[in-house]
Amino acid sequence: MKVTAAAPAKINLQLSVGALRADGYHDLVTVYQALDLRDEVTIFERAEGMGVQCGISGDFSSGVPGDESNLAVKAVKLVAELAGVSCDLNIQITKRIPVAAGLAGGSADAAAALVAAAELYGYGGDLQPLAEQLGSDVAFSLLGGTALGTSRGEVVVPVLARGNYCWVIISSSNGLSTPRVYQKLDQLRDEGAVREPLQLAPKNELLQALVSGSATQIAAHLSNDLQPAALALVPKLQRILDVTVEDGALASLVAGSGPTCIALAKDHEHALDIAARISGQNLADRVLVATSPAVGTEITVIEKN
Ligand code: C5P
Repeated sequence: MKVTAAAPAKINLQLSVGALRADGYHDLVTVYQALDLRDEVTIFERAEGMGVQCGISGDFSSGVPGDESNLAVKAVKLVAELAGVSCDLNIQITKRIPVAAGLAGGSADAAAALVAAAELYGYGGDLQPLAEQLGSDVAFSLLGGTALGTSRGEVVVPVLARGNYCWVIISSSNGLSTPRVYQKLDQLRDEGAVREPLQLAPKNELLQALVSGSATQIAAHLSNDLQPAALALVPKLQRILDVTVEDGALASLVAGSGPTCIALAKDHEHALDIAARISGQNLADRVLVATSPAVGTEITVIEKN
């Protein structure tokens, strides 16, 4: 049997970061939304004893490891272990989500691999604990839509949201490591340059804007506590944010831990206009247009032998 699953990238409409915990993570409150920008993971069995082989293709395959450090490899092994079978699989990942970009591309691959492996092995257990084990954003990639994330981001509940939003996704070639951005935030806080939120809670104005379905209202309430840290590490991102606003974006911000910047457009045509102008300015590596919210991880193809 050959199974393909697709999993979405995420953006954070709110990302409020609390204190560093004893386990090395930060408590956070985030409002996630899934993008219709998806990675695909296809798996099929190899002869017994051959282990896992992982190949990467697609627009953003460069530099992605196919070894044990790949979250998709870890994910299939976890499912095989729980299903009580030996893990002998070919994995093919098609990467359309920029890498080390703040869009949870690696988490999407983990989510797709979990769902595909559960189907292939007939594993009916809960995937949520496995998602939590693999990374903070994997649970959201499984769920998709719009959701409130708490703890380190892995506890997710759906949030009521109307409307569809058009984004320009501006990616930079040199990715940022997530731990480095969190460390920079801690440093900026120690220096008194930025403050920790007084209260770690979802912003009511944003939740109300989501119910209204108005892009203009959403734009007024987007926030990302990691943005000052990402800008401190990659100062040229500020220019990208400024240019999108000059081009009439309703709002623009750094995506998660960056370095991707996202700009909220009035509609699809407007997003294409902003994308064209940004592309012409040599500021970014790749410019994409995407819509949110989008569905979570789902199986797209099953081929039976
Ligand atoms: O969970 P994930 O593997 O995506 O996290 C990568 C790193 O990002 C963690 O090891 C940690 O340094 C940082 N992080 C954090 N607080 C979070 C999520 C991630 O400090 N809530």
